[in-house]
Amino acid sequence: MQGAHGTEDRSVFNIHEDLSTGATTQFAAEVEFPKRSNVSFAGPYVLILFSKQEDIMTTFVGTQTNFIDAVKDLIELDYDAVEAYEAAINRLDSDEYKAKLKEFMHDHKRHIEELGDLVEKHGETPPAGPSMGKQWITKGKVVLANLIGDDMIIKAMLDNEKDTNTAYEKMHGRDDRWDDAKDIIKRGLEDEKRHKAWMESVI
Ligand SMILES: [Fe+2]
Ligand SMILES: [Fe+2]
Repeated sequence: MQGAHGTEDRSVFNIHEDLSTGATTQFAAEVEFPKRSNVSFAGPYVLILFSKQEDIMTTFVGTQTNFIDAVKDLIELDYDAVEAYEAAINRLDSDEYKAKLKEFMHDHKRHIEELGDLVEKHGETPPAGPSMGKQWITKGKVVLANLIGDDMIIKAMLDNEKDTNTAYEKMHGRDDRWDDAKDIIKRGLEDEKRHKAWMESVI
């Protein structure tokens, strides 16, 4: 998301749960963060929207100011996705669905490796695990671990794949992406599209 006052802004789309009312409030806001858990909103640029559809905070990968930071966040997203896949695979009844999700999970693991190598090539250390609460995906492992029924599980995983598709599309569309990142992100996006399409085809 591009900020209201220029391309260098860090913006994030957050959905906050209002615990007192159960209602949800969606913020599209300028955010300064090294740690997303400590977000602060820059007053004049805050746009507040209201949403009753979502009850979980999600944030977008791909909008970070520096490309390398976006790649690192993308790696965390893929780790989060792998955890959600593991939880989903454990809870599914259908052997066919399990096999398909295992295949997709391996794609995410490959993305982690390829993107991690890329970050190292550019002189930094890639994340070594999940995001620890940044909630890059809508339906994390805890949500998945509590769902019953194959349809519910695949629907939740489809929500996650929408998040991964959004992230890879944003990365693919960045003008500042490195030359050696282009193919990796393009192939990743194709994988994510395939995952989403399959989930849409079975529910
Ligand atoms: Fe991925
Ligand atoms: Fe995926």
